[in-house]
This record gives sequence, structure tokens and C-alpha cells, in this order.
Amino acid sequence: PGSAFTRRDGELLVGGVGLRDLAERFGTPLHALDEEEVRRRCQAFRRAFPGADVAYAGKAFLCRAMAGWVAEEGLALDVCSAGELAVARAAGFPAGRILLHGNAKTPEDLHDALEYGVGRIVVDSFHEICRLATLRPASRLLVRVTPGVDGHTHAAMNTGVDGQKFGFPLSTGAAAEAVRRVLAQPGLTLGGLHCHLGSQITGAAAYEEAVRRMVALLAAVREEHGVTLDELDLGGGFGVAYRPGEPELDPETAGEAIGKTLRAACAEHRTPVPRLTIEPGRAIVARAGVTVYRVLGVKRGLVAVDGGMSDNPRPGLYGARYTARLVGRRTTCAEREVTVVGRHCEAGDVLARDVPLPADVRPGDLLAVPVTGAYHHAMASNYNLVRRPPVVGVGFGRARLLVRRETPEDLLLRDVG
Ligand code: LLP
Repeated sequence: PGSAFTRRDGELLVGGVGLRDLAERFGTPLHALDEEEVRRRCQAFRRAFPGADVAYAGKAFLCRAMAGWVAEEGLALDVCSAGELAVARAAGFPAGRILLHGNAKTPEDLHDALEYGVGRIVVDSFHEICRLATLRPASRLLVRVTPGVDGHTHAAMNTGVDGQKFGFPLSTGAAAEAVRRVLAQPGLTLGGLHCHLGSQITGAAAYEEAVRRMVALLAAVREEHGVTLDELDLGGGFGVAYRPGEPELDPETAGEAIGKTLRAACAEHRTPVPRLTIEPGRAIVARAGVTVYRVLGVKRGLVAVDGGMSDNPRPGLYGARYTARLVGRRTTCAEREVTVVGRHCEAGDVLARDVPLPADVRPGDLLAVPVTGAYHHAMASNYNLVRRPPVVGVGFGRARLLVRRETPEDLLLRDVG
């Protein structure tokens, strides 16, 4: 993990740029994002899933530059709000290659998506089918199915099982009923089926089981309605290692297992093989990101830095674990285990527990936390009215500001009372 790093003369580089130089130029905390790594991951997924439509899940991280890289690499884009759509639009992302998601799409989400002409809308409730029937979108619809498959991941992101808020359960017949209702509407075009098992899934078995269940449903639809749906979207969720030794789902392994299972299941059901769509978010961008902090204080094995839960809420939300490394200074000092904490007014504001760092780590030092490209800046808040860090794009030996640091004026702009 953190493979985006290279070392030169004791300095850590990402995208060919030294992290100490980045800190001097852009201040701390900062998110660095390695464009070359993002592009490599896009290419890896396209290679691993030949013939499939690979849609980057923008919720993991989106800005105009990111949307541009993804578009150039030939990916589609999954958005789940009018906000993500607005960024995609500003980047000129081709409308036909955008999918709109959401279990509770707002009128604004739908209005903007239809106005821009997004290619696909993933429907998630009977009410939404009624609403869309009156709007008569030109977009193809995918019905989001809950296949009843456990992704064996954190409960907050285990979305393939019954009893959570997303999708039409397969087990109750709701999925088949949703297909029936969409097909019954002359103004709606059903393109296929969708499921998303969850996030940070580290084995292919759950995907294979989902494929078998989804293909059975495709075959049942064909039998009941005489309609052959030509798209099967399996969502995202491909897991990533955050620390050395942790498991991760290699795209190639996943692609092979999924492709094989898909062909076998379609043969068994005597139904044509649909076009696959996948929606990786984390696996595209997580490892491209590194966050650089400055140490502000050290006491009792606690190293306090100038960021925290406002730029990384994941330890608090999911018990996520990270590593940290000293940047920009050489030391021969032995390492000891410390806990890296943030600057926020909560005891739970911990960034990384039990990480080995040189025992002489001191205020002014820089720390780098790798694998912070996905669901970090995207989930950043202004808690304690702390300003969100910038995102600096690095690659090809150069650095370029993509998203600037927030200013006190930014915070006051919305304070209009
Ligand atoms: N497609 C759909 C419909 C999704 O809901 C998601 C993620 C993805 C694709 C992309 O999943 P990925 O490949 O990134 O795992 N905030 C959590 C992750 C929540 C994921 C939500 N949905 C975290 O920080 O771990």
C-alpha cells in the first residue's frame, strides 16, 4: 500500500514530487493526488474487465481534473447527486457516459440529470418509478436489486444484504415487481439490472454469488416478459489494502472470476451474456492519495497534527486503520509506536493508532499518511470551523493545485444572518 511513494535521498516522493516541497509550496495539511496512479488504475480495470463499461464512482473523490482524467481513460462516471453532476458537467464529461444513483434522489438531482441527458438512471424505489414515468426521461433505467449477498465488510457499507436501505430485494419478489412496473410504463426504457454489494470487499466470492443470482433474474425476466436485458451492472466495492499485509481485491482476479461465472451462469440459463458494468471508486483513487500533516505537539506517545477527523473521518466512522511516515528529515533514531491524533475537540479524533515512528518525532516535522485518495477529501467537513485542505495534483514530476485550501472568507460566505 502507498505504492504511489518512491524514495530519493531519504525524501518521499509522490508522482515524482517531494512531499516536503509540496508542504512548503502549498502548506499543510494537504492532499496530494497522483495523476499517473489514477490513470494506471483506470487502465488496470479496463484490462481486467475486457468489454465491460467501467464507471468511476465519483463519490470516492471528484473534482474537474479527476473527471477529465477518468474521461480520457475511457471510463464512464457514476454520480449520486446534483453536486457531483455539476462538477462532471463543468469538466465537460460526456452526458451519455454518466449514471445517476441514489436511494432518495431529490427533484433537483433528477431535473439536472434529465436536463444534461445522463445515459443511465439507477432506480431504487417504486415511488421513483412513478415519478420517472411522468418525467419520461430519454435515459435508460437500471433497476437496483438487493441480491441478498453478504459482502463481509463493515455494516455501514454492506449493501448487498436485505434490511438495509438500498435496492429492491430479490428475496421478496420486489425486484421482479420493479422490472414489471418499469416495463409497463410506455415512457420508460429498461436497460438492465444493477446491484452493489458494498464497499471494501476483499474476495471475489460475493461477486460470483451475486452474478449467479442476477443472471437468474435476467433469465426470469426474459421468460416472463420476452425482454432480453443487455446490461448487468455489478457496482463497485473492490477492496484496497491500507496497511502492509492487508488483503485487497486485485482487479485481474476479480475480473477473471466474475467473467467466468457470468459466462457459466448465462450458459446454464440459456440466456445471452449481458454487457457488464462495474463502478469502482476506492480502487481507482485510494492509493493515488497521500495526506501530509505537520506535527504540532507530542506528549505521552501521542503525536498531534494540524488536521484530523475533519479531513479523515474514517477511523471514527469505520474503525479504519492507517500508517504514517516521517517526511522530509533524516533520523537515525529508533522507532517506537505512537498514536497520531488530530486537532479537533474530541477524544475520538484519532488518525492512526499504534504506528511506528522515529522516537525523536517533534513539532515542525511532517507526517505522510498514505492511501487517502478515496473518501477523504470527499467526506471532509468544517468541524470546529477548520478549513478543508487543498488537493494538489502531482504527476510527471510536476505539481498543480486542483482544489484550493478553504479560507476564512469561504466559511463566512455562507454565514448570512
Ligand atoms: N456504486 C455504488 C452504487 C455505490 O454506492 C458505491 C459506494 C460505489 C459504486 C463505489 O464503491 P467503491 O468501489 O468505492 O467501494 N464512505 C465509505 C465508503 C462508502 C461507499 C459508498 N458507496 C468509506 O469511507 O469507506
